[in-house]
Amino acid sequence: MQVWCVGAGSVGLLLASKLALAGADVTVIARSEEQAEQIRTNGILLRQQEGAVLDIRVQTSVIREMNPDQTPNWILLTVKQQHITEGLVAEMGRRCRAGARLLCFQNGIGHIERLHPDVPASRLDWAVTTEGARKEGPATISHTGRGLTRIGSALPEIPANEAEIAEKEQKKLAELLNAAGFVTFVSNNMREIAWNKLLMNAVINPLTAILECRNGELLNSEALAPLMRTLYEEGADAAAAAGIRLHEDLWNQLLDVCRKTANNHSSMLQDLLAGRTTEIDWLNGALLAEARARQLALPTHEAVYRLVKAKEKR
Ligand code: PAF
Repeated sequence: MQVWCVGAGSVGLLLASKLALAGADVTVIARSEEQAEQIRTNGILLRQQEGAVLDIRVQTSVIREMNPDQTPNWILLTVKQQHITEGLVAEMGRRCRAGARLLCFQNGIGHIERLHPDVPASRLDWAVTTEGARKEGPATISHTGRGLTRIGSALPEIPANEAEIAEKEQKKLAELLNAAGFVTFVSNNMREIAWNKLLMNAVINPLTAILECRNGELLNSEALAPLMRTLYEEGADAAAAAGIRLHEDLWNQLLDVCRKTANNHSSMLQDLLAGRTTEIDWLNGALLAEARARQLALPTHEAVYRLVKAKEKR
């Protein structure tokens, strides 16, 4: 199976290296020529959870030099939300109309609406993963935690014959992902799954970013507990208003994620510490937009949104 991983951050490098190990024909499409050159020369160094380090060879290119005549079976889009530019959307649309399927791994919501209609609904898939990975260099990746990956149609309201083809292709990819060591299920409810993860991220990420603390520290403060709960409840109100059913145990799952990733810096804190813009617009910002469209106020999300925006500018 031919797979392009567009985006060579932590998730992109993890997927690319492990899929290549499982026998897929993988090309990594990086954002910079320097990174592509490193991958070309040294391969991807994958530090597995047991500590073994493997050097994995894959093909590589940069986004602006993607071979115009090639169409892979799958494009795994792993760039951050803020890097889904108009140009990239047009490029993804072109490849998908030529036969590729696109699977999007972004945190948060909003990207599906930006990719469609350039990318036809019948070829646009959504992935939500809880695999843990840390990028340690331009071509070095550590697999830090096993998780669960769910994939499925992003816009399931497609004609039955197209839905049948989509499901067949998704099952084939899920088989490959499972063979690569990622526990993967095909779902027909990706929007709901993405919202459940969105809510966790919209509580953990801004608080750890503002306080500059590790995920586990959120659980050690009595002062923070009511703030976390209020963020959660406001988010749950926005979900209910949008017609999304949340997992009934989601609050406990959120606390569990803090425990299991206690020593991690959230991706939002990592972005701030590295001077990058964060994904706040597609997490709390997206929740605020959804709520605003339904005349619902989320004052605590508004406050953390503004605080993170202020920190981005410093
Ligand atoms: O964005 C992140 O960092 C992760 O999704 C999570 C769950 C908050 C753990 O660090």
